Formats: sequence, structure tokens, C-alpha cells
Amino acid sequence: MTDFICHPAGSISGELRVPGDKSISHRAIILSSLAEGSSDITGFLRGEDSLKTLQAFRDLGVEITDNGEDISVHGVGLEGLKAPDHELYMGNSGTAMRLMTGVLVGQPFDSILTGDASLSSRPMLRVIQPLNLMGAVIDCLPEGTAPLHIRGGHPLTGIEYVLPVASAQVKSCVLLAGLYAKGETCVIEPLPTRDHTERMLRGFGYQVHRDEDRICLKGGGVLKGMNIEVPADISSAAFFLVAASIAPDSDLTLTHVGINPTRTGVIEILRLMGADIEILDERDAGGEPVADLRVRSAELKGIDIPEELVPLAIDEFPALFIAAACAEGRTRLSGAAELRVKESDRIQVMADGLVALGVQAEARPDGIVIEGSPGDQVFSGGQVDSAGDHRIAMAFAMASTRASGTIEIHDCDNVNTSFPNFVELADAVGLQIERPEPEESGEEDA
Ligand code: S3P
Repeated sequence: MTDFICHPAGSISGELRVPGDKSISHRAIILSSLAEGSSDITGFLRGEDSLKTLQAFRDLGVEITDNGEDISVHGVGLEGLKAPDHELYMGNSGTAMRLMTGVLVGQPFDSILTGDASLSSRPMLRVIQPLNLMGAVIDCLPEGTAPLHIRGGHPLTGIEYVLPVASAQVKSCVLLAGLYAKGETCVIEPLPTRDHTERMLRGFGYQVHRDEDRICLKGGGVLKGMNIEVPADISSAAFFLVAASIAPDSDLTLTHVGINPTRTGVIEILRLMGADIEILDERDAGGEPVADLRVRSAELKGIDIPEELVPLAIDEFPALFIAAACAEGRTRLSGAAELRVKESDRIQVMADGLVALGVQAEARPDGIVIEGSPGDQVFSGGQVDSAGDHRIAMAFAMASTRASGTIEIHDCDNVNTSFPNFVELADAVGLQIERPEPEESGEEDA
């Protein structure tokens, strides 16, 4: 298992382009595989999560090539997938599993989706229930978890589904199944969630209607191959937005970051806390807005985080909790129970790590209360367990910009799911992270 050894760091400065957006990378592979004709994808995230989706479509008979720059997908059309000859392994990726389920219920063949220990404990009834209403047949464990055995050949009918939780994964799953359903499928979301699926479907020439909180499409259409440019992932940029805000004398520019308004909650929350973030050179990248983000050190203050921003910053809370620890006064988060069912229980694991580093933090069923302190050395050195959660590992690495001693973060392998060159890029802008070679476990040939 890889650990990060994070030595106290100084200012965070320079220019940085973080890897491609994970959510958009998954969707680029899915929709271009189901399209007629070829699609080239630039900026694709070669992280373990999106590579799981890529491999799944190869296993389903789609020809996908990688020339080291672009990924070329030779789409087979909505009806062109082939039965896989083995289980489809989704690793750590909830997005891969939930979106694939929406595609696979529309196929004439059976398939099985599996995942690692974290993914195998995450709730899947949230996608199984609406798909059942459409006519799909899916077996799971009694706890409502993977492996998922998806029975093919059951005709689907469109539904109108009110999402019980604000989840873009559930919305996208139902819309993907809707491509295969008779009639119209509509999803109503309680709060806006990321809308990459809807945008990209339109880019592929598929009609999707949105009327306030209701998103509808009709089954039986055609997707036409297109070229896709994946912007840099704001969820990866978020760590550096926080680091450059809390580290003294910082001035960092993050280039070509996706700033889709359904993803920019982290900027809004940091600005409410007093952060100095400029959005520069806003432009369009194939239907998604992108910009350069310039962030400089600022005195942050604690806030009550507005609940409507929660889905718009859902993956950025580990990083935001580090910012809250460095802010003057108390930060309160509520309405975020979803954080307990991410790659780890992000409320508890973050609270434990903050306390281990000398910060006062109290986990609540649907959020957290953090007592910030604006001193130079907010965090003591110490040991933190990331619980195998990529975003928790990266968030605690940022704490080293305001730490009095070395922070050792355990179980960091999964950083590769979303940000494979994290340590190299972080060290290039001023962090001091070492990654000792993991020790051999057991003797060879034993
Ligand atoms: C994602 C949606 C979010 C997010 C996840 C990616 C997506 O999950 O946490 O990392 O790509 O649709 P939920 O939709 O379940 O909140």
C-alpha cells in the first residue's frame, strides 16, 4: 500500500493543468461507443476509474484505440454491443457501475458487474429501483449491493422518476436506460446535479428536453459520432484551489478547468469563505465551459455552507474541510448525508483525520462542524488513514501547507483512480510529498 509523506510546505505558486474530467471521460466512452461512426476524445482521463469504463466497452466488443494522445472509439450504435465473455470489473468506480447498469439493462444479453471492496459496499438500489420500474431485471446481494447480475432481453418502458436523492449518477443511469425504452423517460431532480450526460447526448445529436427540474428523452433515437474535448477536472483542481488559498504568499493558475455551473460549488463556497479566485478567459470546449482559475492566498472565515450548493460541490468536501480548518471561526455543513456513501464515509474519515492532526471537528449524521483557527500552523504532524479514498488522501496532503510537522497519509493507491500524476504536479507547485516504495508483503514464492 502506498503512503504519502507530506513535509511542511511553503507557498503554492506557478501554473498547472490537472488531468481530464472524470465524469466527462466516463460519458465520452459510453456515448461514443453507443454512437454510429467514430469519435476522437482528447484530454481523456487515463485514471483507473475511467479506464474501467473503457475496458468494459472493449469487453462488450467496441474497438477503442489509444495513440497516447487521443482515444478513438469506433461506435457500434445502440444495438451493436456484444455479450461479454466474463464479468465486467468496475474497480472503485461508482460512476462506472451505475452508468453501465443503465446501458446493460437495454441489451439482449446477461451481464455481471463487480467492484472492489469499497464499491461492493455502496448502495445500488438507488439505480435498481427505477430500472425495475422500467421493466429491467437485476439481481444484487440482499444488502442492495454489487455484484449486479443484469438479465438481458427484458423490454423497457419509459417512466417519470422523481429522484429521491440529488444524484447525477442515478439521473444518468435512468436516462441511458431511456435510450432503450419505449416512449418517453423523464427524471425530476430535487436540486440541480451535474448535467454532463444531457449536454453530451445533445452533442451526439440526441434530443433531450429540460423544463426546469425535469429532464426527458425518447427511446429509439440515434447517436452520431463526434469529437470530444475533455476539460481539466475541477474536482482535481479543487485541492489546489484550497492549497493556494491557505498557503501564505501563493499565486497559482490552474488552466483549462471545466467550469460547468453544475460543478462550480467549490468556487462559490471558497469565495463565501473569503477566497481570492479569479475566473479568466472563459471559453467553450465542445459544449462545456472552461476557464483558467487564478487563486491567491486569502484570510478565510468559517461559514454555514448553503445546502443548495451541496450537490454542486459533492466531491470537493474533503478539500473544503481542510480550508475550513484554516478559517477564522466555525464552519458548519448539513444536508450532506450522501458523503457517507462515497468511496468511503467521507464525514467520519475526514473528522477522524482532522482530529488526529489536532483540529476540533465533530461528525454529524448529515454533515460536520469544524472549528477553524487562522494560525500559521493549524495542523500538527501525525498520521492519517485515507481509508482507500483518493480524495481524502489528496485533501490531507494539502494540509501540509499549514502544518507544524510531517503528515503521513496511509492507503493512497486509489489516488490513481482520478489523478495519476498527483504527486508530480503537486510537488511542481510547492508541495513536498514523498512516496516511499511500498514494502513487500510476504516472501516471494511463499
Ligand atoms: C458523478 C456524480 C456524483 C459524484 C461522482 C461522479 C457522476 O455522484 O460524487 O464522483 O459522474 O455522475 P452522485 O451523483 O451519486 O452524487
